[in-house]
Amino acid sequence: MILTEIDHIAIAVHNLESAISYYKDAFGAEVHHREIVESDGVEEALIKVADSYIQLTSATTEDSPIAKFLNKRGEGLHHVGYRVDNCEEALAEMIKAGATPIDAAPRPGSRGTTVAFVHPKGSFGTLIELVQE
Ligand code: CO
Repeated sequence: MILTEIDHIAIAVHNLESAISYYKDAFGAEVHHREIVESDGVEEALIKVADSYIQLTSATTEDSPIAKFLNKRGEGLHHVGYRVDNCEEALAEMIKAGATPIDAAPRPGSRGTTVAFVHPKGSFGTLIELVQE
């Protein structure tokens, strides 16, 4: 088994401030980390739950993948981040198993991680992000 943790679940939202304040009111949640990832056109607010995160994600540009997702599907669960010790090896294993990579090779993610996305097609309808801390 090469998965070591559910790293995060990512929820696409229109308004990051509203989502943060909802999570604060509903759960007493505090934002642990916040980051704009220019290359992905997203702003993220991470709420820590044990050793995993809820990642509230909004779009920073109108043509980012998150913006397109929000326009097409509305708010909701966007992807699941699976934590691994070695992103490159995990990606290779997934491809061997028939997965369709979105990232041909691991690349930098938020909070200093190394990540690779795998297409929902071929992965039972779930966008998977491999995350190496
Ligand atoms: Co993610």
